[in-house]
Amino acid sequence: MLADLKTFAALGAYGCGVVAALTAQNTRSVTGIHEVPPAFLRLQLDTLFDDVRIDAVKVGMLASAELVRVVAEALRRHRPRFVVLDPVMVAKSGDRLLRADAVAALRSELLPLATIVTPNLPEAGDLLERPVSEALADMRSAAAALQALGAQAVLVKGGHGTGRTVVDVLRDGPDTIELSAPRIATKNTHGTGCTLSSAIAALLPQRSTVADAVRDAREYLLGAIRASDELEVGSGHGPLNHFHEVWPRSRAVTGEPA
Ligand SMILES: Nc1ncnc2c1ncn2[C@@H]1O[C@H](COP(=O)(O)OP(=O)(O)OP(=O)(O)O)[C@@H](O)[C@H]1O
Ligand SMILES: [Mg+2]
Repeated sequence: MLADLKTFAALGAYGCGVVAALTAQNTRSVTGIHEVPPAFLRLQLDTLFDDVRIDAVKVGMLASAELVRVVAEALRRHRPRFVVLDPVMVAKSGDRLLRADAVAALRSELLPLATIVTPNLPEAGDLLERPVSEALADMRSAAAALQALGAQAVLVKGGHGTGRTVVDVLRDGPDTIELSAPRIATKNTHGTGCTLSSAIAALLPQRSTVADAVRDAREYLLGAIRASDELEVGSGHGPLNHFHEVWPRSRAVTGEPA
């Protein structure tokens, strides 16, 4: 969520946040998850929606089926224009972030409310209950199948592939396009998915098509991954550099005081 807020801020959006679950985590692992009581999640959502004009919602880690249902209900009641659903299931460290029994609730309750859903390859597989490989034909058919489950648009992300080029597949209406970029060699990939989905949420109200928002969100993400090695945070998968366009590069590189 902290990465989400930085992304919103960097892309000209004012972010508000609602916590579904607290995590104890560092760049190496997630050591604990503390779920918020469902009624308190509902209160957070209703309180914000009652006051603030919400242009777009990004949904991230939800932990349990009950929390999935609370978010779906709130979205149906408050009807925000754009909903970006990042179906977070497993952290980069391999730790499980959504209970296995919550996948069905996410599929049936939240997918149909999504302007766009952004699964990585394993998440696309879990949602469809079949393996999804990095083969382009597989990614394309997964995107179409997830759209058939009710999402308006689908971005199947290829970060977990192994090729020299990373390819994401975007299905929007009847169109399928591939978005590719050279794979950046870095271990600092903590929150790539969170950052991308938040960037899409920040840009959807500022662009005229989903494809334009996704393209510009990927540009921002790639810049943040490329500049991630300028930060030294933790010894595992470090974070991205969300303010790569704002912070003076030379100081970040040389370590001189600002
Ligand atoms: N090394 C890399 N170089 C370039 N792009 C990358 C790299 N790793 C991931 N990406 C891009 O980052 C985005 C997130 O993809 P990924 O498949 O890693 O999502 P994710 O598994 O949900 O991430 P996270 O584990 O942070 O939730 C995609 O647009 C993908 O193409
Ligand atoms: Mg992810």
